[in-house]
Amino acid sequence: MNVVAFNGSPHQEGNTYHALKMVLEELEKEGIKTEIINVGNKKVNGCVACLKCHKSRDQRCQQSKDQVNDWIQQMVKADGIILGSPVHFASASATMTAFLDRAFYVAGANGGLFRHKVGTAVVAVRRAGATVTLDQLHRYLLYAEMFLPSSNYWNITHGAMPGEVLQDAEGCQTMSVLGRNMAFLMKSIQQGKDTLTAPQQVRKVFTNFIH
Ligand SMILES: Cc1cc2nc3c(=O)[nH]c(=O)nc-3n(C[C@H](O)[C@H](O)[C@H](O)COP(=O)(O)O)c2cc1C
Repeated sequence: MNVVAFNGSPHQEGNTYHALKMVLEELEKEGIKTEIINVGNKKVNGCVACLKCHKSRDQRCQQSKDQVNDWIQQMVKADGIILGSPVHFASASATMTAFLDRAFYVAGANGGLFRHKVGTAVVAVRRAGATVTLDQLHRYLLYAEMFLPSSNYWNITHGAMPGEVLQDAEGCQTMSVLGRNMAFLMKSIQQGKDTLTAPQQVRKVFTNFIH
C-alpha cells in the first residue's frame, strides 16, 4: 500500500513538512510506502470554472501548464492521501487551495476518482486559525466519499519558524497517533475487501435548491 502526502507550504522543509513527516514515519513503520509532493513552492493557477473536465472526462484539468494533472494521477494510484498546509490568514495556503479545487473538481467530474481511499489532513500554525483550516482541508476529503482516521486531538502542530513544531510535544504526539490510526484504518479496509462488499456508488442527486 502507498500514501501520497501534499505539502502546501512554500517552505519545502518547514513546519508542515515536519507535521507530515511524523505521520509518514508511523505509516512506514507499518510497511506502507510514502511520498511527499511539494505544492506550496510551485506556481498553480486556480480553477477557472470552464467545466471542461465534465465534458472530457479524461481525469485531467484542461489547464495543463502546471503539475496538477500529474498530482491527480498520483492520488488516483495511491491507497491513502494526506493534505498538509500552513495556516495563512486562517485558511489553507492559496497555492494548496488552487490545487485542491482543481484536483477534487476533476475527481468529481470523473465519477469519484478518490472514492473509498483513506485520507487525512494536517495543519501547521503559529497561533490562530488552525481548526478552520483543518476543517477546510477535511471538506475536500469528505466531499469525495473518502474514509478519515482520527487522532487524540485535532491534527494541528504549533510553531512559527521552520522546525519549531518539533518542540510542540502534544502536536508531535497528535501526528504519531494519527499515523498509527491511519495505518490501521488502511489495513482494516484492505482486509475487509476480502469479506465485505463495499456500498455501491449511487448516481448523485444534484440540485441547486430550486430545481
Ligand atoms: C502569509 C502568511 C499568513 C499567515 N497567517 C497565519 C494565521 O492566520 N494564523 C497563524 O497562527 N499563523 C499564520 N502564519 C504563520 C504560519 O502559519 C506558521 O509560521 C506555520 O508554522 C508555517 O508553516 P510552514 O513552515 O510549513 O510554512 C502565516 C504565515 C504567512 C506566511
